[in-house]
Amino acid sequence: MSPHLLGVRMDGATHQTRPCLPLMLILFQLTFFQSMGFCPPQCVCETRPWFTPQSVYHEAKTVDCNDLLLTRIPENLSVDTQVLLLQSNKISQLGWELQELTNLTELDLSQNHFQSIEDLSVSNLSRLITLYLEENQLTELPDYCLKDLENLEELYINHNQINLIGPRAFSGLGKLLRLHLNANRLSIIDPRWFQDLPNLEILMIGENPVTSLQNLNFQPLGRLHSLVLAGMELEYIPENAFFGLDYLESLSFFDNRLTEVPKEALKNLSLLKFLDLNKNPISRIRSGDFKDMLHLEELSLNSMEDLERIDAGAFKNLPELVKLEICNNPWLTYLDPDSFVTNVGSLKTILLNNNRLPMVPQKVFKSLPGLTEISLYSNPLRCDCQNNWKGLSSLRLIEAQATLCTSPPLVSGHLFQEIQGQAWLNRCPPLIDTHSFPAQLHLSKHQLVTLTCHASGNPKPEIYWVTPHGERVTGSSGRVRIRPEGSLQIMDTLEEDSGSYMCQIWNSDGTDSKSVVIHVNGTQEQEVGSLMMVTKRVHSSFVVVEWKILVGSGSSTNVLAPAQWSSATMRIHNPHISYTAKVPLEIQEYNLTHLQPSTKYEVCLTVSVLSRPSQQSCLNVTTKEPSFSITVAGKPVSIALSAALASLIAGLCMAAIIIYAGYHLRHKSCGHSLKKYMQRASFIPLNEFYPPLINLWEAEVEKEKESSLEQPTLIPPQEEKTFPTVGQIDTSKTYMWQP
Ligand SMILES: *[C@@H]1O[C@H](CO)[C@@H](O)[C@H](O)[C@H]1NC(C)=O
Ligand SMILES: *[C@@H]1O[C@H](CO)[C@@H](O)[C@H](O)[C@H]1NC(C)=O
Ligand SMILES: *[C@@H]1O[C@H](CO)[C@@H](O)[C@H](O)[C@H]1NC(C)=O
Ligand SMILES: *[C@@H]1O[C@H](CO)[C@@H](O)[C@H](O)[C@H]1NC(C)=O
Ligand SMILES: *[C@@H]1O[C@H](CO)[C@@H](O)[C@H](O)[C@H]1NC(C)=O
Ligand SMILES: *[C@@H]1O[C@H](CO)[C@@H](O)[C@H](O)[C@H]1NC(C)=O
Ligand SMILES: *[C@@H]1O[C@H](CO)[C@@H](O)[C@H](O)[C@H]1NC(C)=O
Repeated sequence: MSPHLLGVRMDGATHQTRPCLPLMLILFQLTFFQSMGFCPPQCVCETRPWFTPQSVYHEAKTVDCNDLLLTRIPENLSVDTQVLLLQSNKISQLGWELQELTNLTELDLSQNHFQSIEDLSVSNLSRLITLYLEENQLTELPDYCLKDLENLEELYINHNQINLIGPRAFSGLGKLLRLHLNANRLSIIDPRWFQDLPNLEILMIGENPVTSLQNLNFQPLGRLHSLVLAGMELEYIPENAFFGLDYLESLSFFDNRLTEVPKEALKNLSLLKFLDLNKNPISRIRSGDFKDMLHLEELSLNSMEDLERIDAGAFKNLPELVKLEICNNPWLTYLDPDSFVTNVGSLKTILLNNNRLPMVPQKVFKSLPGLTEISLYSNPLRCDCQNNWKGLSSLRLIEAQATLCTSPPLVSGHLFQEIQGQAWLNRCPPLIDTHSFPAQLHLSKHQLVTLTCHASGNPKPEIYWVTPHGERVTGSSGRVRIRPEGSLQIMDTLEEDSGSYMCQIWNSDGTDSKSVVIHVNGTQEQEVGSLMMVTKRVHSSFVVVEWKILVGSGSSTNVLAPAQWSSATMRIHNPHISYTAKVPLEIQEYNLTHLQPSTKYEVCLTVSVLSRPSQQSCLNVTTKEPSFSITVAGKPVSIALSAALASLIAGLCMAAIIIYAGYHLRHKSCGHSLKKYMQRASFIPLNEFYPPLINLWEAEVEKEKESSLEQPTLIPPQEEKTFPTVGQIDTSKTYMWQP
């Protein structure tokens, strides 16, 4: 049985991806079944393909006792067993049962009931190469606990409850290449552990409640290729945390609490190829954050709830960068024309979908000569500014059918590509993002407030601010000042700062403005408003309801922006059914469907508004008889208010569209396509309220949440059939977290 190389690597990281090649199996079964000795009842004993961690192919005598609810190791195993699979049983002890299996190379004890590593006698298994112990209930790894496994190359001990690892716990494991310690309860990462692991190439240690790293934290790991620090609570990375990781190629910080790019710590990782910073509360990519990373090939900056802007010089001298992902950042409004400077010519793919970008500055296209494809869908795209979009004509637009114009209103909802090259849309006046800041701001005294007026336009618009006294703010010093990027800043707020501030934007093509009313120390406190729900349409099988919060004093009635709602739920009830569902905050209409004809329903909406008591509005509605066609009801509770309402509806509709789009942006993941109903932005999408589906709908939202929290899975190398040199694990495609 001479070992020969085979390009496919059987990834043992997850149980689901461990099936074997059925055809080969049958072949081997026929050939070798006879040669195996005694086979324990219910187990399958046969020769199967087996791959070393270096992807070297072997044939191995395999005893497969997976999923048998065994409580002990089967007796009388054949002494020539090489692979013993005992996954998903109820074994909690391993004594000397395996002491004669001197040729055992793989032992799978994952998903069993081990509570202590001392219940696991492995001292005679010196040939063991791979040991699976994930999903047990181990809590500690004391010093020297695995010392006899001198040939071990892969140890999977993830998804246990380990909270303590002795400084010499890995003593004896000098050949270990791969260590999975993720999803345990470790609160620190002790550099002493790694002194016994000089050959380690892959370390997965994420999903542990580790809040900080120390300098020289991984120093002994001079051969590490891939480090996964995902799902921890890291807020800050010390400058020398990665000192000594001279061969690191792949690094993941997925789902941590970093508020800025840890550029000092990344500086010396000179071979880094893949970097994942997804899902961190970074608000801004600053000049020089990614600079001189000479071998970086792929960079991911996705799913950052706080990311607002990418500054000039953010991506600088990255000569091997091929792919850049900046997706699912719901507040990313600004991409500087000079974001990419000097030596980024290899960049081929840039993903910018599901952000809040109205446009990509023309200069960006000019500074990326190697660009071949781009994604832009699910952004509030401006389809005027045609001169600016010229750079796009030679690129492949990913998901072109889902890439729609949002403004100007005349072409809103049209396919972005259809509008390209329309000369009448050449002008590019300033446009302020509707979510730049709220219409009202309540502050206490002695606060610091910064208001950023996110605006697009070409030529780059000028910004100025006007105070409540009608004066233009000019200085960059003083208590009320302008910051270099055009934000207004008020330091140490005083009562006299109360009033309306206006952001004025202009360029040669036009102007735009937006204002905010600031209340310091409770001046002009608003009255508590009242929630009002009305039926809009009543049919035999569906009812459309609509709602507002009205804040009024005397004759002037104001509608509270839904952005101030913190949660909303709707309940539909009659003696036969009763369902409750969460309502997306941004919508103001609901289509209750699949109702019975001629039936009375009570519908209640409960809304919580920030810093106010929650409010409820209920109404009783009886569906039409089956023969009736749709009637428009429109019966507000209070007639006095209906006039005010009517005049507000137009404005609200527009807001609802934009807000609704925003809602979806946030829930899409990189690579997903848009739903059909987004194709016409002039139509207010109505959520269906369909009793049997409510749970599904919620389940789906839950699932989306879960999947984002879920342990991200490794992408196994698929097409790439590589022949790594013996002694090295192939890291070329493998170790990025999937967002
Ligand atoms: C294991 O072998 C011993 C001795 O040959 C025998 O007594 C015992 O019944 C065997 N156990 C099983 C489960 O076959
Ligand atoms: C273990 O492997 C060696 C070398 O492959 C072989 O010579 C020996 O017979 C095997 N031992 C057993 C108990 O099968
Ligand atoms: C197994 O290990 C124990 C203790 O290390 C030793 O006494 C025993 O001889 C070993 N058995 C075999 C078959 O090597
Ligand atoms: C970075 O590399 C330089 C030169 O290789 C070295 O002098 C310096 O000490 C390193 N710093 C860190 C933090 O690793
Ligand atoms: C401002 O706050 C101070 C101290 O809390 C209070 O005495 C004063 O009445 C407040 N003024 C207004 C206008 O609310
Ligand atoms: C409400 O849903 C029903 C059933 O899905 C549909 O026929 C009806 O057109 C919808 N009403 C509105 C106003 O969208
Ligand atoms: C709806 O009807 C129920 C029972 O018939 C009644 O208790 C409730 O007050 C009514 N609600 C409204 C808003 O009229």
